[in-house]
Amino acid sequence: MPNAMAQTLDVVELILEDHRRMEDLFRLMRSVEADRAAALREFSGLLIAHALAEEAKVYPALKRYKKIDDDEVEHGEEEHEEGNKALLELLEVDEVGSEEWDEKLEELVQAVTHHADEEERTILNGARENVAMERREELGEAFIEERERHLKADCGAIDNVRKIVGS
Ligand SMILES: [Fe+2]
Ligand SMILES: [Fe+2]
Repeated sequence: MPNAMAQTLDVVELILEDHRRMEDLFRLMRSVEADRAAALREFSGLLIAHALAEEAKVYPALKRYKKIDDDEVEHGEEEHEEGNKALLELLEVDEVGSEEWDEKLEELVQAVTHHADEEERTILNGARENVAMERREELGEAFIEERERHLKADCGAIDNVRKIVGS
């Protein structure tokens, strides 16, 4: 029986799947009919786990490829910091759905969308063109494992986000 949950291990596809989930969660957070607090909780964990796993397991490996631009990879790390800061500002707003919350949400959407676009155009296309599928699958496994480890440790909790932004 075909398994509907069959997962690719290609690190490029796995990263893209996370980016698409982040877009879904932005839509939920913008909807007055959705459980916006729950969407933010999921988003917070996903953003932090995703970025930490990229930085620990994916970016360093890709830097070793001559044809992948190291500056783009380093720029990606800077953009993670901007995304984390914008996330923290949203988490710190007391009332979900207030005017201030909506403003901070739009700043977060902007920072994360900008980074995801750029990452897809530069780093991920570089990986597609230069990294063999076998290696992409190895990196995908390492990415998933690291991402899970952070999710299990509740990496999106506000205290942890504060710690990450402050460091
Ligand atoms: Fe990403
Ligand atoms: Fe990233």
